Amino acid sequence: MEVVVQPSAGAAVELVAEIIGREVQAKSRPVLGLAAGRTMEAVYARLVKKYRAERLDFSHCRTFNLDEYVGLTGADKHSYRHYMNRLFFNQVNINLRNTHLPDGAAHNPAAECEGYERLIHEAGGIDLQLLGIGQSGHIGFNEPPSDASSRTRVVTLAPETIQQNAPIFRMDTMPSRAITMGVGTILSARKCLLLAIGESKADIIRRTIEGPVSANVPASALQLHSHCIIVLDETAASALSG
Ligand code: GLP
Repeated sequence: MEVVVQPSAGAAVELVAEIIGREVQAKSRPVLGLAAGRTMEAVYARLVKKYRAERLDFSHCRTFNLDEYVGLTGADKHSYRHYMNRLFFNQVNINLRNTHLPDGAAHNPAAECEGYERLIHEAGGIDLQLLGIGQSGHIGFNEPPSDASSRTRVVTLAPETIQQNAPIFRMDTMPSRAITMGVGTILSARKCLLLAIGESKADIIRRTIEGPVSANVPASALQLHSHCIIVLDETAASALSG
């Protein structure tokens, strides 16, 4: 893993947006793996800025998001589809038909998961997978314990994830299950790019980077990936020994 510590949150976001921008420009048909969550909001804002100010072209991109809440349709304002359309897809020149998220409202979730894996495979696999990290150590919604060989499936959210994300749902009941790419699906991407910001992520970042590879810290499986960049601000890096 290559760990890059930036002096500020803004600089960390800028670097991640730059790496994504380079990937988008370098390939004739880039396949991006995308992530939701609060940390990524600034990344999408930066990419939208690059589209507007630097004419970064997304028209040839195909995207696959990591996860979606079970039970929510894309029209639900709490769904990750809604988040992605609002913050990114509707603000740039990407073809919405080339953007994919698992369907949280699918009648047959198991078939949905299998179909999602097939779609990624048919697209030629993911070139660059963007990742955040949850305080439980999850990537996507792979809660502990999640095996490094796991594939897209339905999972039950950890109590700390529900606690972490519940404020977004305010008065509404938060879903307790999600469809997520597996850790193995994520490791199949040609490159992984994880962004963590803030002191609340410092301990889980230390365990991810310096701890043993363990299903109890699903993000630690990234140590097994041959091309993984971890971008941190100084506070997220503050518990690292090296
Ligand atoms: C969410 C997403 C993850 C994301 C993580 C971090 O629950 N499913 O893919 O990486 O939690 O979220 P945040 O950036 O809000 O801390």
